[in-house]
Amino acid sequence: MPQVLTATGLTTGHAPFVEEARSRGELYISQPYELYSEENQETWARLYERIRGRWERYANDHFLRGVEALALPSDRIPRLADINRRLEPLTGFQTKPVSGYVPGFLFFDCLRRREFPTTITIRPGDRMDYLPEPDIFHDVAGHVPMHTEKAFADTLVRFGDCAHTAVQLTAGIRDPRERARRLANIVKAMSRFFWFTVEFGLMRGPRGAVAYGSGLLSSYGELEHAIESDEVQRYPLQMEWVINQGAEIDHYQPLLFLIDSFDHLFDLVDRLERWMREGKLDNVAPGLPEIQEGDLRSFMDAAS
Ligand SMILES: [Fe+2]
Repeated sequence: MPQVLTATGLTTGHAPFVEEARSRGELYISQPYELYSEENQETWARLYERIRGRWERYANDHFLRGVEALALPSDRIPRLADINRRLEPLTGFQTKPVSGYVPGFLFFDCLRRREFPTTITIRPGDRMDYLPEPDIFHDVAGHVPMHTEKAFADTLVRFGDCAHTAVQLTAGIRDPRERARRLANIVKAMSRFFWFTVEFGLMRGPRGAVAYGSGLLSSYGELEHAIESDEVQRYPLQMEWVINQGAEIDHYQPLLFLIDSFDHLFDLVDRLERWMREGKLDNVAPGLPEIQEGDLRSFMDAAS
């Protein structure tokens, strides 16, 4: 193994193994576990140790059961093969290591096949609190415990179905500009819905609001803020609102939406697809997220 690969570990922004895979155009990679540095392993242990108590107070029960079912290690970065061995018999889901951003359609299509694109790098040890890009703590400690829950896992698969429906509905539009416009609106609506549920969702429970969104469950600071702060507005999820609400990045979410259960969430994704078929996602409010060219292209390519 060349020295340069082991020296920097698998740190987000400094991971030659991942950068080289990306430069070769490889999206799906392996998790070369021996490349994690001591500092990488310590970062995981510190993140886990710091947030564990907050999970017990603020996470939904399914998440806590998922952490147990996966035997998520507290003191070292998990091996994805170990996670998969425990996860797959429960819901059929698997983690799938990737080298970076997975364009929209491909991401949702992975979910449809019960594969979760998973980042293998971990944030630098001096940036524990905020990183714009996902890392393995966000993906594996924030998302994957939820994938042990059947209704939640089935909901992710339905997102994948929605992406296929978007492709079908727009494939026949002759005017390329109108086709791109229509797709951009649908994808924006889907992304907002995903953002305010899978990434930042709250659920009403017997103890009050609890978190199920991975952006909250992987953030020590925001998890408490989302549940306790008077500055956060929390409303029952309304479809009209969520698909037209601009997402906020770079700071804590000031507005969060509550669901009642994961069966409720599953029904909401059904409704999202129905609205898509009825044309109700064709003219959503402008604002974030901006839909990237590569995301649109992935939907167009899927039609051909
Ligand atoms: Fe995420």
